[in-house]
Amino acid sequence: MSTVARGAAGVADGAALRYQSGFGNHFSSEALPGALPQGRNSPQQPPYGLYAEQFSGTAFTAPRHVNRRSWLYRIRPAAVHGRFERTGDGRISSRFDEAAPAPNQLRWSPPPLPEEPTDFVAGLATLGGNGSPDHHSGCGIHWYAANRSMQQRFFYDADGELLIVPQLGALRIGTELGVIEVRPLEVAVIPRGLRFRVELSESAARGYVCENFGAPLRLPDLGPIGSNGLANPRDFETPVAWYEDREGDFELVAKFAGHLWSARLDHSPLDVVAWHGNHAPYKYDLRRFNTIGSVSYDHPDPSIFLVLQSVSDTPGVDALDFVIFPPRWLVMENTFRPPWFHRNVASEFMGLIEGTYDAKAEGFAPGGASLHNCMSGHGPDAATYEKASRADTSKPTHITDSMAFMFETRSVIRPTRYALDTPLLQDDYAQVWRGLKKHFAAGSGPSPRGHRGR
Ligand SMILES: [Fe+2]
Repeated sequence: MSTVARGAAGVADGAALRYQSGFGNHFSSEALPGALPQGRNSPQQPPYGLYAEQFSGTAFTAPRHVNRRSWLYRIRPAAVHGRFERTGDGRISSRFDEAAPAPNQLRWSPPPLPEEPTDFVAGLATLGGNGSPDHHSGCGIHWYAANRSMQQRFFYDADGELLIVPQLGALRIGTELGVIEVRPLEVAVIPRGLRFRVELSESAARGYVCENFGAPLRLPDLGPIGSNGLANPRDFETPVAWYEDREGDFELVAKFAGHLWSARLDHSPLDVVAWHGNHAPYKYDLRRFNTIGSVSYDHPDPSIFLVLQSVSDTPGVDALDFVIFPPRWLVMENTFRPPWFHRNVASEFMGLIEGTYDAKAEGFAPGGASLHNCMSGHGPDAATYEKASRADTSKPTHITDSMAFMFETRSVIRPTRYALDTPLLQDDYAQVWRGLKKHFAAGSGPSPRGHRGR
């Protein structure tokens, strides 16, 4: 595919937003005609005087179906920058031993929007995580609140790929491989190591970020669902090549081995004129998710809501799942329709993009979060239980205008000191279950339908 899309003074000043369709495809894109070498990756002299650079996202010898790499043709190689020096980490952390994780259920109110000038990187705060960037396993869970674009600075994360889930305000993300615009109800994934700049399309932005230290996110297998369903591959969009040829005084911020580092740059690193490969950023509109559920009785397990997964070394056990609870019809007869009470081996960090989550009548606000760790009991609150256990299940229920999600992990999600100390933590969260009444009566006996009558 040949495209011409260039800008000279920032993404917001007119980059063409064009995308290529498909998940994990081997894409080819050029912002100037003929910039992409043909027939080889590293010719002696690439077109337009560009430098060739390989950008790999997996081990060279990874099996072909999981191997990720791209070839970049750029004005200057990524090696050209000043010396990195440690800078303050702000509220970003990859140390998950700051506090002993308690088995309590936790919930946070949404973070307020900043009053001081704060860009995307400065606005990140880590709520928890597990594993380690050093070992390329586990994840960090952050939220962000920002009120201005990144100015004269760029960021990359060597520790993991970034799954960005906006909750408020659109982001225009200028990356080395092109420009992605993402707004609430859409998500973006930025590969490990890719340099980018986040511009705000509106006056403020807020959302969540999952930093995946492990295997790159992929689409799950579908098993008996068949060859279609859940997130369909063609709905994932990767940008076309776009570059800026800018010189000036810039900062390059790196997250490396759990800490932030800063280096001077005399040019924009968004100078890739052409590229090809499958290690590339992408976006996905959550409204395109093909939601599947029971049409008879009971719920399937929530794995039916799986959008993307990072697999572990154990078959069938994911290190990280990204799961959504989109608008849908509930039609199951003689069934308690909200999510059931449960305790799971997995640990669940949950966020809400809009609306109300069907297991919580109140207290779980858009922009807020909850954490139910391994084997911590949870489920619908008392008000939801009382209502749903008496609802007429001969008629369908339509859940509309709601989008909750989960970052679900194999390992315990260990909250940071910030997450435990912030006044946004709701001290009274567990009260939502204390009101659940005892209904048991030994003498009442089963109803003809096999459970207590209603
Ligand atoms: Fe749960």
